[in-house]
Amino acid sequence: MKYGYFDNDRREYVITDPRTPVKWVNYIGSLAFGGIVDQTGGSLLCAGDPGLNRITKYIPQLPASDFKGTTLYLRVRGKDGVELISPFFTPRLDAFDLYECRVGLSYQTIVSEIRGIRTEVTIFVPTGESVELRDIRVTNLRDDEVDVEVVPVVEYSHFDALKQFANADWVPQTMMSEALPIDADHLALLQYPFLRKDGAVNYLSASGAVSSFESDRKIFLGGNEYGTWREPLALASGHPLSCYEARRGDNIGALVLPLGTLQSGAEERVVAMLGQAERDEIRTTVTKYCNHHEVDAAFERLADFWSANLSVFECRTPDPDFDAMVNVHNPRQCYMTMNWSRYLSLYQLGIGTRGLGFRDSSQDVMGGLSGAPGEAKELLRKLLSIQKPDGSAMHQFYPATMEADCGDAEEEKDNGKLVYGDDHLWIVSAVCAYLKETGDRDFLDEKITYYDASLSIDGRPDGTVMEHLCKALAWTKENVGDHGIPLLGFADWNDCVNLPGKAESMFNACLYGLGLREMIELCEHLGHDDLAERYRGDHADMRQQVNEVAWDGDWYVRYFTEQGEALGSRNNAHGAIYTNAQSWAVMAGFAPEERASRALDSVREKLNTPFGIKLSGPGYNQYDPEIGGVTTYPPGAKENGGIFLHSNPWVMIAETMLGRGDRAFEYYSQINPAKRNDDIDLFEVEPYCYPQNILGDEHPQFGLGRNSWLSGTASWTYQAATKFILGIRPGHDGLVVDPCVPSSWDRFEVTRRIRGASYRIVVENPQGVSRGVASITVDGKALDGGVIPYCDGGEHLVEITMGEESHGVVEDVTELAAAG
Ligand code: GLC
Repeated sequence: MKYGYFDNDRREYVITDPRTPVKWVNYIGSLAFGGIVDQTGGSLLCAGDPGLNRITKYIPQLPASDFKGTTLYLRVRGKDGVELISPFFTPRLDAFDLYECRVGLSYQTIVSEIRGIRTEVTIFVPTGESVELRDIRVTNLRDDEVDVEVVPVVEYSHFDALKQFANADWVPQTMMSEALPIDADHLALLQYPFLRKDGAVNYLSASGAVSSFESDRKIFLGGNEYGTWREPLALASGHPLSCYEARRGDNIGALVLPLGTLQSGAEERVVAMLGQAERDEIRTTVTKYCNHHEVDAAFERLADFWSANLSVFECRTPDPDFDAMVNVHNPRQCYMTMNWSRYLSLYQLGIGTRGLGFRDSSQDVMGGLSGAPGEAKELLRKLLSIQKPDGSAMHQFYPATMEADCGDAEEEKDNGKLVYGDDHLWIVSAVCAYLKETGDRDFLDEKITYYDASLSIDGRPDGTVMEHLCKALAWTKENVGDHGIPLLGFADWNDCVNLPGKAESMFNACLYGLGLREMIELCEHLGHDDLAERYRGDHADMRQQVNEVAWDGDWYVRYFTEQGEALGSRNNAHGAIYTNAQSWAVMAGFAPEERASRALDSVREKLNTPFGIKLSGPGYNQYDPEIGGVTTYPPGAKENGGIFLHSNPWVMIAETMLGRGDRAFEYYSQINPAKRNDDIDLFEVEPYCYPQNILGDEHPQFGLGRNSWLSGTASWTYQAATKFILGIRPGHDGLVVDPCVPSSWDRFEVTRRIRGASYRIVVENPQGVSRGVASITVDGKALDGGVIPYCDGGEHLVEITMGEESHGVVEDVTELAAAG
């Protein structure tokens, strides 16, 4: 342990030293209102849109020692006079006797003891509300009495986050504050840019009386602003704040909340509120949370939500780090990723041209849907509504307006060049995963409009969800290049290999293959035999094509340029092998058994490192506009030979399909951030969630992680662990049981709740195999086959014995090879 530890009983990670190598954050609330909170109490909040409705000024690029967005001071008067304390460590950076930041499920609790004052603050957003609560308790641990004032502070951003930085006259000329009395004792300090004074405004308020306040940063810091956040002169003076209602400037909110005299051992509580609302709603919310029972009830509702969310899949295996991730931290990350997409994190600031990605969100749905199927369905509807009438899809949308565009390829849109060749295909797997989880067949008949910006929403053509899926597959079938492989477009999943002209993508071929497999299963289940037959034919055709043109001897190539040159081939000095072409050839059911194992062995030989599998290698070593954005990174960074974590679970899944459980688990463990907890100074980012990338071995800082939280790694690692390693995966007709685990595991247990019933699944592995089910009983009755039919409610005991006598193994590559 270096900076903290996992408290699995409380489902928290506890940071015990605030000086983590970079800020370690957590999410509160939702995109409707919420954001990130770091381990020193700073928060980046927005409402609905992080670029266009930003609330706090949180600048990740500033040094970690700065306070960012929000903070808290205590002004303590004891026998030694007036002292300022920072219970969140920043900005005063005082030495502390105890520091605990409990990273919880949609809440953050920061406990500190400094100079005999204990402060405990729980930060969260009540579900569905537009207010962040800071539930503050202060205890006097000294022998003498002290007089305590609590001072919550927020530094506001202009709602247009980019303008805040781009226009240093217009912004301050428009920012204003106003004190709104709530009742005789309470007030809300409002903040808004002039043009929004009649709309929703930001406010800072509290459940306790406000004795004075400040809204202007210059006055608060003092000395013509040569006062510092460490020692704001207005606060340090011990006097009341000026109660100035700013009409311009750099707006802050600071409230002085007197707790009165605390005798030795006494505790007092006050709740600060930072929200956004129409003026007449503010009074209702503030009055509600002045009642601390309401605060407790809101916190309990949040806990209930998470208990239900996490109860859908709980496991007990021989590996506690695996259990911590699968039971708590990974599903939490999946949920946050499904909500936030790539819209707001320390690394992705939701400013400018980045909305919710079609491909990203489709994948996020697959990770988050078991815990929150209703929210997943809503997101699927939105995604389907930005699919175009021809079956392809817009690249991203902005949830506040539901407008869509083509992201980085927007300029290409009208050049007759294809945009992204992969986006639309992801929705097929996402919808099928949703159907397998919920059995909600009616969804397939629901009509959803196609996207056409030239028509009003009501005038747009529509189609059933089933039609949307068929069109997606048809589009790719019809858009192939000279080798019969689907066109790349501006890019596929690998955003930054941008080959000109009619280049072809092996990834798109495989994604199409997986989509076909999903549709074959669905059609068989629905009894659409003709369609199933047609898709079987399409799958066989593409499989044959891929094996004819893309096998390079020891692995599959990744792209064909317009000139017909293969990239990701032994003939390339740089980018000679790409992970995804190998893992996906297996996942798509394209690779015959021998090629499948050869391709995955090549990944191991050429791309594996102790910190994860590299996306490709060797890295390109100079900028090449003909290859694209990937060559802007130095070798070893990001997509250019970095360990791009998102691709690692695909190799795990492929390995389980070959029955190689030891390898799959080794790959799982080597990127498990919980396993980095003890040498985290190298990794730097949070040990309780997956980052997007780790620097690869061609880089001098090999092992350094970045871009934590919002990554497809969350969804796919969760799927790899639950559906493929533990092997409990929903099918259309029942729960498929097909574990592929380390041979050293002699036993594990899973509780899976699905479609109203609960299954306690106990797996014994007496012969030490990796894969293979010798027997299954459900409630004591032997089951023939590896699929447990869905029960109508109730709790069921499933007992499984693994063994060589393989029983009920479905969908393996060998079968496909024989069939193809
Ligand atoms: C980022 C993008 C994602 C893309 C990946 C690989 O994570 O959000 O859409 O697939 O990079 O380039």
